[in-house]
Amino acid sequence: MKELIDKLAENKIISRDEFKVLLPCDEVYLHEKAREVRHKIYGHQIFMRGLIEFTSYCKNNCYYCGLRRDNTNAERYRLSKEQILDCCYKGYDLGFRTFVLQGGEDNYYTDDILAEIVREIKTTYQDCAITLSIGEKSYDSCRRLYEAGAERYLLRHETANDAHYSSIHPPEMSPINRKKCLYDLKKIGYQVGCGFMVGSPGQSIDHIVDDLLFIKELDPAMVGIGPFIPHSSTPYAREKPGDLRLVLNTLAILRLMKPNLLLPATTALGTLDRNGRESGVLAGANVVMPNLSPAQVRKKYLLYDNKICTGDQAAECVACIGKRMERIGNKIVVSRGDCVAI
Ligand code: 5AD
Ligand code: SF4
Ligand code: FES
Repeated sequence: MKELIDKLAENKIISRDEFKVLLPCDEVYLHEKAREVRHKIYGHQIFMRGLIEFTSYCKNNCYYCGLRRDNTNAERYRLSKEQILDCCYKGYDLGFRTFVLQGGEDNYYTDDILAEIVREIKTTYQDCAITLSIGEKSYDSCRRLYEAGAERYLLRHETANDAHYSSIHPPEMSPINRKKCLYDLKKIGYQVGCGFMVGSPGQSIDHIVDDLLFIKELDPAMVGIGPFIPHSSTPYAREKPGDLRLVLNTLAILRLMKPNLLLPATTALGTLDRNGRESGVLAGANVVMPNLSPAQVRKKYLLYDNKICTGDQAAECVACIGKRMERIGNKIVVSRGDCVAI
């Protein structure tokens, strides 16, 4: 197993069967090596992003997600431009230099409204980066928002296997279009993030290999990986959550495949296991994304059950995350946290 891990770290091609051996393996060396590679590039510094969940409305109906339009139990809200700017104001003070505007696919926010929000954040906080995470949009909309000042875009590909994609989404959602969007975003000039859930219903180890190979080809700046966690008001209410070790190994393998990758230890990972985010960092992750959303809406942005931090204020999460990172020998830094060139 060690030779295989070294082979991956040396950027040699490894086969599908070798990936399939590595993914579920119980080998501490995999995480050690991933940490070593991260330290070489990013030291013990962990980047922080402020997540602003600005709308819980979504026109889509993904089978796994608590915000899907058919979930009539979900409470919906929208933040105004002023509320979003207030999150940034508080966030800047807490040391955030990246703001992630995340929401369901909500047509209330037209290109004009979004461009105005982006422009205003960008002119007020010139040393900050803005990341959009607002689903599939047209090429022109994405370009307008890029011109308004958004530099990064997160769009999880969800699964690179087209048949699997079609099994966890309703027929109107297309895996081809999803991938095309990611390539379009790159073409526009965005630093792109893709990603997927580990353990989504119907996912096999072969599907995860498909994801790794897709990521290698797309060559994104960031990859968001977290476990699938069931939500009680979705068709997948009774499905089991993703496996902790498989999430951690996926992170470690990605770190070895792409040493400079921005890899968040996600909130879903922290929800699956009380030390999930620490374990994620120890397996090679180098980003954390504490929530900056106003306390009164946090309980309404529920993609899955038992989400952590829904009762906390931004300042509490920053202090909590800071301590957690220090306990494992790392340090949160005040920085935009750009992907370094290697
Ligand atoms: N469990 C874990 N992650 C989920 N997401 C949506 N629903 C769930 C769930 N039940 C993830 C998707 C989406 C991102 C915003 O959250 O990957 O892209
Ligand atoms: Fe909407 Fe995103 Fe949830 Fe799908 S995963 S229902 S697009 S918020
Ligand atoms: Fe939110 Fe710990 S990170 S309370």
